[in-house]
Amino acid sequence: MRIDIITVLPELLKSPFEASILKRAIEKGLVSVHLHNLRDYSKGNYNQVDDYQFGGGAGMVLMIEPIDKCITALQKEREYDEIIYMTPDGIPLNQSTANHLSLKGNIMILCGHYKGVDQRVRDTFVTREISIGDYVLSGGELAAAVLSDAIIRLLPGVLNDETSALTDTFQDNLLAPPVYTRPSEYKGMEVPHVLLSGNFPEIEKWREEQAFKRTKQLRPDLLE
Ligand code: ADE
Repeated sequence: MRIDIITVLPELLKSPFEASILKRAIEKGLVSVHLHNLRDYSKGNYNQVDDYQFGGGAGMVLMIEPIDKCITALQKEREYDEIIYMTPDGIPLNQSTANHLSLKGNIMILCGHYKGVDQRVRDTFVTREISIGDYVLSGGELAAAVLSDAIIRLLPGVLNDETSALTDTFQDNLLAPPVYTRPSEYKGMEVPHVLLSGNFPEIEKWREEQAFKRTKQLRPDLLE
């Protein structure tokens, strides 16, 4: 898979891909992530990428021309399955969208900034608009990092058995059951005995019950 991210702040997006699981996925060649600085596609000495909004009002808007140039240049090189715009008014990200996108070959992610992008960009280029939650970030960069992480960890070969995505919270619309590690007793707090029993059918049954109980208690909306 290949992910191209268009941003005015590439430096904000570097470090998530330089550590741990995402770094290893890139090193293994399972995914490549390319950051594109929108300013490289602007014209004039000031590298202008944003301007005041027509009709008045506070906040700058990212202009269509540099975005058009950047997207068109990328599209000349390859076909994209999706051009995703990160925005608080997009469809809320969930596991099912991450699963769906993890099956794609090439995706482009556009990060908004300030008041967002000229509507004509959304009308012309964007195939999907995604929000990571009902709150407003100062730009789409951190949201793009969240989306990329959710997708990349699902790619075959990225996680090993111990970290397998199959048992994640949400993968079956349930929260994950509680987990424990050594020591089996700490300051009087004990690990549930079934987990130490070696009886794997019983352990599996316990985990399912706990996942259901936790979901019912904390996220009953998932069971509807
Ligand atoms: N840009 C600003 N806020 C955002 C959010 N909540 N989700 C996605 N992109 C954003």
